[in-house]
Amino acid sequence: MTIKSVMVIGAGQMGSGIAQVFAQAGYKVLINDIKQELVEKSIERIKVRLFHQVDKNKLTKEQAASILLNFVPSIHVEDVEQADLVIEAATENMEIKKDIFKRIDQYAVKDAILASNTSSLSITEMAAVTKRPEQVIGMHFMNPVPVMKLVEMIRGLETSDFVYRTSMEVVQEIGKTPVEVKDFPGFISNRILMTMINEAIFALYEGIASKEAIDRVMTLGMNHPMGPLTLADFIGLDTCLYIMETLHEGFGDDKYRPCPLLKQYVHAGRLGKKTGRGFYCYE
Ligand code: CAA
Repeated sequence: MTIKSVMVIGAGQMGSGIAQVFAQAGYKVLINDIKQELVEKSIERIKVRLFHQVDKNKLTKEQAASILLNFVPSIHVEDVEQADLVIEAATENMEIKKDIFKRIDQYAVKDAILASNTSSLSITEMAAVTKRPEQVIGMHFMNPVPVMKLVEMIRGLETSDFVYRTSMEVVQEIGKTPVEVKDFPGFISNRILMTMINEAIFALYEGIASKEAIDRVMTLGMNHPMGPLTLADFIGLDTCLYIMETLHEGFGDDKYRPCPLLKQYVHAGRLGKKTGRGFYCYE
């Protein structure tokens, strides 16, 4: 099976990044969201990033212009019939994702691969609402997508070998490195990363060290590019809390209990960089 066109559902930060890397690799990319202005904003954001690469002599103006021609804006899920690969990158909420999977199953072509960029939720459960669970797979990209090499490939209980192999090949073609993991809460990336971030928040909550000191220990001591509290702000504290809750519910172990301080910040609307304030202030 040759994949030529991709539809990305959800034009937020992750969806835009995924759309960008596929368009840069020469695929036709339908960017879909519920409102026209969200799709336009996403394409505008990608344009800015492409022209930043032109300024840095990493792309020519002509290349950037030709990449932009690969985008097709979409606000109708029925457009999915034009895609060989569909990547759902909507809000991290199982009910929303199941609803999307039911609708794309209705209109997608027979052989289309249906993927989710979920960061912690069950692929098997999403696949179960479709009539083709063997064609459903997890493709978990990392943020910022154009920079990060990894894509976690999550095999649902029913994912076929063919769909898995084809998905691995396409991920390699866009210059990323796929890594296979099984379908359990948080997969590997967030099972480990979020537990570390939650532990850093507990250390702050317990007054063991200041936020700057906690981050410095991990950047200077462990060579992490960002400290865990800065990284939590970058990911979004609501997302961190949601993933911790998924881990806690999925494994039932106290080691995944979200820190009360994380909950308090989220309840206060301090969601990190996107709201201007999280552990740090960005205003
Ligand atoms: N989108 C696209 N490109 C970006 C970007 C973005 N949001 N942010 C930075 N970049 C690019 C810059 O343009 C720059 O590229 P050029 O050299 O071509 O200009 C390059 O990345 C380096 O950027 P900077 O020099 O500004 O900053 P930096 O060296 O500190 O790198 C970083 C920034 C790549 C984000 C780095 O800090 C980093 O690796 N941080 C950790 C990121 C991480 O852990 N991501 C995983 C998050 S968890 C996740 O995604 C899973 C989940 O489910 C929650």
